[in-house]
Amino acid sequence: MATHKLLLLPGDGIGPEVMAEVKRLIDWVNGQGIAKFETESGLVGGSSYDADKVSITDATMALAQASDAVIFGAVGGPKWADVPYEARPEAGLLRLRKDMALFANLRPAICYPALAESSSLKKDVVEGLDIMIVRELTGGVYFGEPKTITDLGNGQKRAIDTQVYDTYEIERISRVAFELARKRRNKMTSMEKHNVMKSGVLWKEVVTQVHAREYKDVQLEHQLADSGAMQLVRQPKQFDVIVTDNLFGDILSDIAAMLTGSLGMLPSASLGEVDQKTRKRKALYEPVHGSAPDIAGKGLANPVAMLTSFGMALRYSFDMGELADKLDQAIATVLAKGIRTGDIKSEGSTVVSTSQMGEAILKEVQALYA
Ligand code: IPM
Ligand code: MN
Repeated sequence: MATHKLLLLPGDGIGPEVMAEVKRLIDWVNGQGIAKFETESGLVGGSSYDADKVSITDATMALAQASDAVIFGAVGGPKWADVPYEARPEAGLLRLRKDMALFANLRPAICYPALAESSSLKKDVVEGLDIMIVRELTGGVYFGEPKTITDLGNGQKRAIDTQVYDTYEIERISRVAFELARKRRNKMTSMEKHNVMKSGVLWKEVVTQVHAREYKDVQLEHQLADSGAMQLVRQPKQFDVIVTDNLFGDILSDIAAMLTGSLGMLPSASLGEVDQKTRKRKALYEPVHGSAPDIAGKGLANPVAMLTSFGMALRYSFDMGELADKLDQAIATVLAKGIRTGDIKSEGSTVVSTSQMGEAILKEVQALYA
């Protein structure tokens, strides 16, 4: 049996608590001989800053590069509000994305039947929702240069961020999205603001060309990102795959998360290009929720997004769709039984802690293997 090398980076806030539930699952999977995962752990974000004065060390970066997949918790918190900009917790995550060339960020928003009532939107708007947001992750305004604040010397400062996209970046992310659409409901919506931004003009042009050249069988639609945001809360089920840039993707995926009932429900996969020789791709899996410092250390966090992020690793890095399906099924059963963390509680549900939720889910997975 192949050994899969995982680097676990729990990070800050609720990161370590939700990661413990993934660890519980991994230990069981190893114990059963279903797969062989070899895990190492490292520091990232504020916890790395506290230990080493950087948001991620070169040594941890090397471990990440050598791993088959990085499983990432969350970074950030008020404790590090005043650390130098270069060493802020988020910089560790951004370095991982950039240095590992993880350009494709997949954020599936699925509304479990039992949670249709937990969304802030009406039940019939979100019931059965299943959309995939494909966010470009290594370009755009997150990384564009110049990125500066200059003192103008007259009591004024000037801040510059640069939104920049090259053709190849738009081509490769749209291919990932078109491929996913083909395996789903065959519809793709591209979101940008070509009415205001040059990068939006090029984005729309390139997506249109890739479609005409390679993916004519997929239904393609363009929406302006602002109106797309509105449509996401008005009629989210019109969407199948949404492809968009780094910044719009950040914002639109937080909106999509709430459609599923809670930010604690949305996983993500960040993938690099498939290596032509090894057929493998670099990958990092992380929940979309942040470090939630307000509830950290209290056992209140919802571990589902962290667990389903590991589920995405099973699918996209290890070809273990069967275990991933069982994990999804186990989560659906636990939710249907009314076992909930506080963020997704509803009338008549049993509110449990992070570890009780993890235990309940593992128990259902075990039952599916019994
Ligand atoms: C996300 C997060 C990150 C981002 C932060 C932590 C840098 O919000 O993954 O959505 O803005 O990309
Ligand atoms: Mn975000």
